Amino acid sequence: MSKNLRYFLFFSGFLLSFSNVSHQYACTNETVISLPFCNTSLSHRDRVTDLVARLTLQEKVHQLVNKATGVSRLNVPAYQWWNEALHGVGKCWGVSFNSTVPGATSFPAVILSAASFNSTLWYEMGSVVSTEARAMYNLRLAGLTYWSPNVNVFRDPRWGRGQETAGEDPFVVSKYGVNYVRGLQEIGANGENVTSNALKVSSCCKHYTAYDVDNWKGAHRYYFDAKVTLQDMEDTYQPPFKSCVIEGHVSSVMCSYNMVNGIPTCANADLLKGIIRDQWGLDGYIVSDCDSVKVYNNLTHYTATPEDAVALALKAGLDMNCGDFLSNFTENTVKQGKVSEIVVDQALANNYAVLMRLGFFNGDPANLPFGKLGATDVCSKDHQNLALEAAKQGIVLLHNHNGSLPLNPKTTKTLAVIGPNANATEVMISNYAGIPCKYISPLQGLQKYVAVTYEQGCANVSCSSGSLIENAANAAPKSDAVVILMGLDQSVEAEELDRVNLTLPGLQEKLVMDVANSACGPVVLVIMSGGPIDVSFVKNVSKLVAILWVGYPGQSGGEAIAQVIFGDYNPGGRSPFTWYPKEYVDQVPMTDMNMRANTTKNFPGRTYRFYTGPTLYNFGHGLSYSTFSSIVKSAPSKIQIPLQKSQSILAPNTTYLSEFSSGEAIDISKVNCQALQFDIEVVVKNRGQRNGSHVVLIFWVPPSSEKVVGLPKRQLIGFERVEVVTGKKESVKIKVDVCKDLSVADAEGKRKMILGKHTLLIGSSSDKQVRHNFYVKVSKCEGGQISYFSNT
Ligand SMILES: *[C@@H]1O[C@H](CO)[C@@H](O)[C@H](O)[C@H]1NC(C)=O
Ligand SMILES: *[C@@H]1O[C@H](CO)[C@@H](O)[C@H](O)[C@H]1NC(C)=O
Ligand SMILES: *[C@@H]1O[C@H](CO)[C@@H](O)[C@H](O)[C@H]1NC(C)=O
Ligand SMILES: *[C@@H]1O[C@H](CO)[C@@H](O)[C@H](O)[C@H]1NC(C)=O
Ligand SMILES: *[C@@H]1O[C@H](CO)[C@@H](O)[C@H](O)[C@H]1NC(C)=O
Ligand SMILES: *[C@@H]1O[C@H](CO)[C@@H](O)[C@H](O)[C@H]1NC(C)=O
Ligand SMILES: *[C@@H]1O[C@H](CO)[C@@H](O)[C@H](O)[C@H]1NC(C)=O
Ligand SMILES: *[C@@H]1O[C@H](CO)[C@@H](O)[C@H](O)[C@H]1NC(C)=O
Ligand SMILES: *[C@@H]1O[C@H](CO)[C@@H](O)[C@H](O)[C@H]1NC(C)=O
Ligand SMILES: *[C@@H]1O[C@H](CO)[C@@H](O)[C@H](O)[C@H]1NC(C)=O
Ligand SMILES: *[C@@H]1O[C@H](CO)[C@@H](O)[C@H](O)[C@H]1NC(C)=O
Ligand SMILES: *[C@@H]1O[C@H](CO)[C@@H](O)[C@H](O)[C@H]1NC(C)=O
Repeated sequence: MSKNLRYFLFFSGFLLSFSNVSHQYACTNETVISLPFCNTSLSHRDRVTDLVARLTLQEKVHQLVNKATGVSRLNVPAYQWWNEALHGVGKCWGVSFNSTVPGATSFPAVILSAASFNSTLWYEMGSVVSTEARAMYNLRLAGLTYWSPNVNVFRDPRWGRGQETAGEDPFVVSKYGVNYVRGLQEIGANGENVTSNALKVSSCCKHYTAYDVDNWKGAHRYYFDAKVTLQDMEDTYQPPFKSCVIEGHVSSVMCSYNMVNGIPTCANADLLKGIIRDQWGLDGYIVSDCDSVKVYNNLTHYTATPEDAVALALKAGLDMNCGDFLSNFTENTVKQGKVSEIVVDQALANNYAVLMRLGFFNGDPANLPFGKLGATDVCSKDHQNLALEAAKQGIVLLHNHNGSLPLNPKTTKTLAVIGPNANATEVMISNYAGIPCKYISPLQGLQKYVAVTYEQGCANVSCSSGSLIENAANAAPKSDAVVILMGLDQSVEAEELDRVNLTLPGLQEKLVMDVANSACGPVVLVIMSGGPIDVSFVKNVSKLVAILWVGYPGQSGGEAIAQVIFGDYNPGGRSPFTWYPKEYVDQVPMTDMNMRANTTKNFPGRTYRFYTGPTLYNFGHGLSYSTFSSIVKSAPSKIQIPLQKSQSILAPNTTYLSEFSSGEAIDISKVNCQALQFDIEVVVKNRGQRNGSHVVLIFWVPPSSEKVVGLPKRQLIGFERVEVVTGKKESVKIKVDVCKDLSVADAEGKRKMILGKHTLLIGSSSDKQVRHNFYVKVSKCEGGQISYFSNT
């Protein structure tokens, strides 16, 4: 039946009695519901095995791609696997909006939500997005499999997709990934009646791995071969994916376009089958980035024939191909004997198992958990409030001379609002966006507080013409204060577009200077961008009193900005990346994947963990309208680590033990890590005049050692955002896993524990930092022991 005919019949009333029999949902047809794959009393595994066994090879190959054709004779409908929900249900093949659901809640770009350092928020965002996704699925407007989040590390400040990530620190990226994935996948309030491994929606951690060059000075992601050391692999590139799979229980991982050490990731059996599936135990499917099999066959010619490419991918552990390469060439590959049909069946089974867990084969969704969700559950007031909340929690106050901010709306009666991003709407929702429920631009947000005059200053962020600058400079002195909104947008940093410098584009600096020099009142600079910008030129402009970084703040970004500027919200966000000086781009080729500094080649290293040069603002930097102080209430003073039983031959050997001196590095496999955990308790006091949120950051500095080269200068091992009322104290407990959090990767990528004096640094450079030392030794006894320091 043609789609049009069916449509006609539905609305003619002719088939009204069938209108609750969906043709687009599986296992709704009388002739198939008695088959085992539709039988909900059987295990998912048995149902999947039954379904796969019913298919011909020709049918099978058309289910290995994102646009799965379905099998109409079995009432298995066509299914579009490609859906996106990076920070809200996004526009893409599987998702459509119409007047039933005209928009979905659009959260800030992930880089700003990350700056909140609030794991609860990240989980709740995932939960809201999956509720909206389920509602849209019920309305046939979206699918159930979402290729989000992006858990690559924001390794280089120029990366066009840095905005999609949770920043430069693998620990933060891991925590973000785990929480967002859980929010998307976990069965919440409306889905109690389902099995424990059921999924609300399926999430996907991408792009595996070492993918973070899009298009830089001729280096393109399709052709780029990332040369990665085992050490960087272990402590930078792998951790977010490992956490996604092991802690987040993500149901999919996407392999990337690039090669890693000469091998395309989607063709790498060691990475896919070896690590993701066997070592980490992925319960789900592995999908290629879109067309990446075609890329390594047709563009980089890694394989000689399409059949070789297919065989390599399937044998490496790929289950699904975004694109049409596998549907075109798999049948021939099997017929040529290059891959066995059993391998195809396994891939299919991995895909179908995820659909089973989603309830895709349980009949009409109206009768299932979440079946009641509908249009009123999308863009609900609560959901939209959370998008506003995320923006407020993320905004980072970089600089605030003499407490110039917040502005007082009683004394600041007029405001000049200037800049190419002053009336930003679409810019605020970044990439991988949907259609937002609404927009509140900065201009609209600020207008709610005071009378404003608006001047663009530059027609767009490229700011190639200075023709509007004079008007802006003239408007500035006529107002009590100026807010100037500058920065970037998708024309400067985007997918397939990396930056080549860290400065404001075009004449933006001139606009800022001219406005600041002509203003009479205070000037506040607001930077909208996904990555850092060198704004050191403002240091000598006395009128420029405050700087805010607002990422791409989502649908209600303008309201969040206004609430921060006028003091209705006390900012507490922290920068999730390092602000490098502009010279950085001359010292560091984007294509050099090394994290560690190397003096021989004048390479200063990357991110707060390894970078040795000067910064504008450090990772973790962020001010508040209040001041907070912290003390360590309780933490270890000495940790005696027990060795594994098999190593106990060493235990009675006291002479040997005494040689386990400071700087010695013990292989983690020799340590009995079980139950080696402790809490650090920190008490935070709000010494300021305003209530506010404070982010407790716990950095760890390993002892120096000659046994391991390339130690991180420091590493974040815990964080917690806490609200503290003025004058009051709050206590925060952070769990530390000794083997996982206090070990380093050596040159071979092996985890080592270094003996000697370890240091904890509480707070970033914008805090009153507190230091705490403790000692790690090898225990002479079978059990370990942790002695505590306690400050009462
Ligand atoms: C579903 O499977 C159960 C368990 O094997 C069986 O008892 C039941 O009859 C099956 N239902 C249908 C409709 O075939
Ligand atoms: C049920 O499936 C059979 C076999 O594919 C088909 O002939 C029939 O039209 C379907 N019935 C409905 C109501 O879709
Ligand atoms: C929106 O699309 C869905 C799915 O195609 C459809 O069921 C619904 O009727 C559409 N809404 C309107 C108002 O056209
Ligand atoms: C389904 O879940 C609801 C809410 O938890 C509960 O009240 C109800 O008893 C459950 N029903 C079944 C059949 O388990
Ligand atoms: C890819 O290359 C194969 C031959 O190796 C060819 O058959 C196929 O048409 C090409 N596909 C595209 C989209 O270029
Ligand atoms: C697959 O086949 C279709 C139809 O012949 C063709 O348009 C498409 O380019 C092919 N894709 C690849 C990757 O070769
Ligand atoms: C800083 O603020 C105080 C109190 O508002 C004021 O007296 C002082 O002049 C200010 N200093 C500067 C350098 O603006
Ligand atoms: C701000 O942007 C909105 C949406 O693009 C537009 O409708 C409005 O006219 C703009 N405001 C000004 C003052 O230009
Ligand atoms: C910096 O890069 C942008 C594009 O990202 C370009 O428009 C601008 O001209 C560059 N600036 C300088 C000083 O090279
Ligand atoms: C530093 O760079 C030099 C020159 O490229 C290289 O030979 C050396 O191995 C590097 N050192 C480290 C520790 O990576
Ligand atoms: C004790 O350690 C010393 C020094 O490494 C070693 O020579 C000796 O064999 C060890 N003895 C036992 C019983 O393990
Ligand atoms: C963390 O986010 C949640 C969800 O928005 C919020 O309820 C909570 O207050 C936030 N915590 C802090 C300390 O801001």
